[in-house]
Amino acid sequence: MKYSKIKSTGSYLPPKVVTNQDLEKIVDTTDEWIVSRTGIRERHFALDDQFTSDLAVEASLDAFKKGNIDPKSIDLIIVATSSPDMPFPNVGCIIQEKLGIPPCPAFSVETACSGFVYGVNLADNFIRLGQAKRALVVGAELMGRYLNWSDRSTCVLFGDGAGAVILDQSDEPGVIYSHLNADGRYRKLLEAKSLDGSGNAHLNPTITMKGNEVFKVAVKTLEGLVDKVLEDNNLEKGSIDWLVPHQANLRIIALTAKRLQIPMERVVLTIEKTANTSAATVPIALDMAVTDGRIKRGQLILLEAFGAGFTWGANLIRF
Ligand code: ACO
Repeated sequence: MKYSKIKSTGSYLPPKVVTNQDLEKIVDTTDEWIVSRTGIRERHFALDDQFTSDLAVEASLDAFKKGNIDPKSIDLIIVATSSPDMPFPNVGCIIQEKLGIPPCPAFSVETACSGFVYGVNLADNFIRLGQAKRALVVGAELMGRYLNWSDRSTCVLFGDGAGAVILDQSDEPGVIYSHLNADGRYRKLLEAKSLDGSGNAHLNPTITMKGNEVFKVAVKTLEGLVDKVLEDNNLEKGSIDWLVPHQANLRIIALTAKRLQIPMERVVLTIEKTANTSAATVPIALDMAVTDGRIKRGQLILLEAFGAGFTWGANLIRF
């Protein structure tokens, strides 16, 4: 039996930092409101000439460097993004060319904030089936390009960034279990669409969200998700070493940790400095905790995410 295991991680945050105080000058909001409702203090935005593939390339190069990996050894590329450079070619092919990765399957997954956990599940399946030996899975987003600066309830929530992992074929379990799900009945609560009423999102996709309703469904769904992960794997509450959650709202994360009965010291948080980077939050958080030595080899980690669609999912991983 072959498994997939994380060989290395990487991440990239673009250089422009925008604080809540900066936003106070252009939006009818306060640092106090944003911090108390979300946990966000600042976010990074890409430069005008940076595209999602540029962020994805930087995160991938970081993962190659940390794992001492030759890009030529990659035989599967999956990029989770809802903000591709263009409708086609997909971002996977664009970074394949930029990174000099030889011909191999390359595609993107557009399941919003859950994209990365979907991507890890897909890559794990490819590796288990023997269709790939070394996969590059990236979450990369330019959420800043979708913001409506006259909608204070959404424009303060998002940022840009990218994270990556290399998954290798292994004799020992790494990705132990994944669960994915979606419910399109909720699709209108969170959309990136044209605000001109035409419904033609290609013109100028802009985030619209019924935040409070999304919040309630997110909490309930994530509680059900972590219960399922524990039950399906015969795990006791409290037995996960690290929760690496999607970073949309600190209150949602805290309620999920409470359900898992793990203290916030064992939850990886980046939201304060990155805000919600959609499909990139989980790999960015993972890379930060691996790089600073909090997450160690052999530990049990749970990645989880919930986002537009609604889509949601989790990966249980022996690091
Ligand atoms: N500054 C100041 N006041 C604000 C702001 C702001 N930036 N935004 C909203 N308010 C006001 C509202 O106008 C409202 O005022 P009112 O009571 O006078 O009408 C009040 O604050 C409360 O608004 P709510 O929307 O009820 O605030 P809530 O506590 O729900 O927090 C938030 C809003 C942070 C958006 C929260 O609902 C949330 O995090 N939702 C879930 C987000 C999420 O998980 N999304 C999924 C992933 S994203 C993806 O997939 C792309």
